[in-house]
Parts: sequence; C-alpha cells; structure tokens
Amino acid sequence: MNNFVFQNTTKLIFGKGQIAKLASELPEGKKILVTFGGGSVKANGVYDQVKAALAGFDHIEFWGIEPNPKVETLRKAVEICKSESVEFILAVGGGSTLDGSKLIAAAAKIQEDAWELVRNPKLYGGTLPFASVMTLPATGSEMNRGAVISNIATGEKYAFYNTYPVFSILDPETTFSLPPFQVACGLADTFVHIMEQYLTDTGISPLMDRWAEGVLSTVVEVAPKVRENQHDYDAMATYMLSATMGLNGFVAMGVPQDWATHMIGHEITALAGITHGQTLVVVLPAVMNVMRAEKGRKIAQYGERVWGIKEGTLDERIDKTIVATEEFFRSLGLAVRLSELNLGEEIVEEIVNRFKERGTLLGENSNIDYKLVEEILRQRL
Ligand code: NZQ
Ligand code: ZN
Repeated sequence: MNNFVFQNTTKLIFGKGQIAKLASELPEGKKILVTFGGGSVKANGVYDQVKAALAGFDHIEFWGIEPNPKVETLRKAVEICKSESVEFILAVGGGSTLDGSKLIAAAAKIQEDAWELVRNPKLYGGTLPFASVMTLPATGSEMNRGAVISNIATGEKYAFYNTYPVFSILDPETTFSLPPFQVACGLADTFVHIMEQYLTDTGISPLMDRWAEGVLSTVVEVAPKVRENQHDYDAMATYMLSATMGLNGFVAMGVPQDWATHMIGHEITALAGITHGQTLVVVLPAVMNVMRAEKGRKIAQYGERVWGIKEGTLDERIDKTIVATEEFFRSLGLAVRLSELNLGEEIVEEIVNRFKERGTLLGENSNIDYKLVEEILRQRL
C-alpha cells in the first residue's frame, strides 16, 4: 500500500426534506451567489425549497451553467462575484453546476482569466467557500475537489481542482425527475469512477479492494430497480450514496489509479458533445482488453467477486469479465460502440493526434501512449 493523506472536509447532509437545512448551514450575514443550470430545479420543486430556506439571506441568482460547464458562461459569474463582493457560493443542480461553481469560486479570487486558472494550477489563490444541493448522482462533485471545465473556443475539456464543498445536501427525492438517460449515464459514471480507482493490480490493499467491489456490486444490484422505478426512494438513495462514495476518496486510500478511460472519454465529449457517462462505457471495455497483460489479475478478481466468473483459464475469465461489463452497460440502455453514436475513424484520428501532440501518458504506470489510445479506440468502432 502507498503512503497517503486523507482529509475530506465536506459535511454530507443526506435524506428526505434536508434542503430546509440550508437555513441553518449557510453563513449568516454573507452575500451569497446561488448558481443553477438550465431550469430543471424549477420543474421539480427544488428551486422553491431552496428559495424558502434562503428567506432572509442576501443572495443573487446566477442561471445557465450548462452540461459540461463552459468557461465562457462561468466568466460572467466571476464578474458578478467581483463586482458584487460575493462571499459564499451555493450551487444547486447536477455535477456541471457544481463543477462550474468550483471554478467561479476560485477565479473570483484572482485577477487572471478563469481558463488560465484551469490550465495553470499555480495561479490558484484560494477560494470563496462554496456548498451544494446536488440533484444528479454521478460525478461525486458534491464531496470532492474536482471540476471538469470545457472551453468552446478551443474545443478543450480539462479537470481543475479547488478545495472541498463546505457542505452538500442530497435529497434522493430530487432525483425522481431525472431523465432516464441521465440516470443511465449517472450509474455508468459512478461504476467507472470506482473501476478507475480499482482496476490496477491485486494485493495492494485488500481493504480498498473489498470496499470498491462492495460499491460496484451495489451499483449492479440497484441499477435495474432504479431503471424500473425512479420513484423508489430507497433505490434512489442507494444509487445516490453510491455515486458520492464512488469519488470522494474513500475507495482510493493508498492505491494506484488509472484514469485513462476518463481522459479518453473527455476528448469524445469535447469533440462530439457526447454525454460524459455515455463516453465512458464505450471506452472502458477496450482499456481492459488492451491492458490485459498488466491488469489481468485484477480483472479476474473483479470478474469473480462482482460477476461470479470462476471457470476457465485466466484469459478466458478476462474475456468473460469484459463481456459481463459490456452487457451491464448495455442493460443500462447505453450505446457501447462509437459507431452506435455515429462516430468513426475521424474522431479516432483527432483524439490520437491530440494525445500525440500533448505527449500524454495515461494509466497507473504512465504507459498508455497515443498508439495504445488508438488501439483502444479502434477496438470500439
Ligand atoms: O441544467 P439543468 O436544467 O439543471 O438540467 C440538468 C442537465 O440538463 C439535468 N438535471 C440535473 N439534475 C436533474 C436534472 N433534470 C431533472 N431532474 C434533476 N434532478 O441533467 C442534465 C445533466 O446535468 P449535468 O450536471 O451536466 O450532469 P452530471 O452531474 O453528470 O455532470 C456532468 C459533468 O461533470 C463532469 C463531467 O465531465 C461533466 O462535465 N465530471 C465531474 C467530476 C467531478 N467533479 O469530480 C468527475 C466526473 O468524472 C465528471 O468528469
Ligand atoms: Zn466521471
């Protein structure tokens, strides 16, 4: 096991009716910027609950943070923070609203442009404190430091790191209104987050392995219930907590990680606008296949413990495990091939060229170069 430091400072407030707790959690006497996406919160009653709790708080609303939040939009909110002397940010919505707000909170503290901050972490000069009401279980953004920001002008999408949200409120009832496609993508995103912190080698941390396998098995178990009835409170609560636990550092203590699937997936979103979770399920099966020489033992362990695959040679078990994984993604109603998304050779070439130019090396051993990225993507045509 590797050395590690673990400190996750987010206060998690979970359950039915908990949005009312905003009134006691928000700082008194501070000017608050409340950020939203495109309006789902108005249709599902979240906005009314937030507004009721905000009575008496000095606040400004900022609307329009879009899926895959664009720096072009976020800059406008940074200006408001500066001109209105905002002291606290409350993000209400999905991962995109939260991620965008993390950048707004940090960019409000510096003179330089928000995109420069994304590209150069050395410009980080602290942050306005921020919190969230999270309505889409997927990203774990409610309890992690990450944010993924897009730039329309350059067609790029990169991760940015701020500090943790002060608190996050998660009411599973807010998820009842999610479009089924977003639920499928959220389940997929959750699953792949855990896989990318798990699928390296065996014997590094038996505790992290069992913990990750526990969340993976839970997602597999709850997915059909969630897809069958989005108003099943307990199923949605299990899905929602799984998403938080999937990317808040709890399954990552002392173990190596491989974010190749995410890095390749981000390029598919940046170039073709495909929803995040959907990109991941296209890529992951080929990362498993192409990297089977070094990941084989762990793939087999995952196959046995999550899918009950015990028979056959190591290679046969790896094959069966990849098929089981792909079938699970299909069972969510998602496409698993680039061609099903009307994507082909062109995007493969574009992505490979980007990695070649950047000299990016992916994977837990930094050995997935542009040639292997090409092999991975070609297997998914
Ligand atoms: O914008 P509104 O109107 O609110 O609608 C949203 C949006 O259209 C809607 N929605 C959200 N909650 C809803 C709802 N509709 C009905 N009922 C609700 N309760 O869903 C649509 C998608 O929302 P979005 O926030 O974009 O989805 P998600 O939470 O999946 O976030 C995706 C973004 O997060 C990044 C992705 O790359 C992508 O940019 N990620 C962030 C991570 C992190 N911060 O750690 C890690 C992830 O790997 C991921 O990369
Ligand atoms: Zn993700």
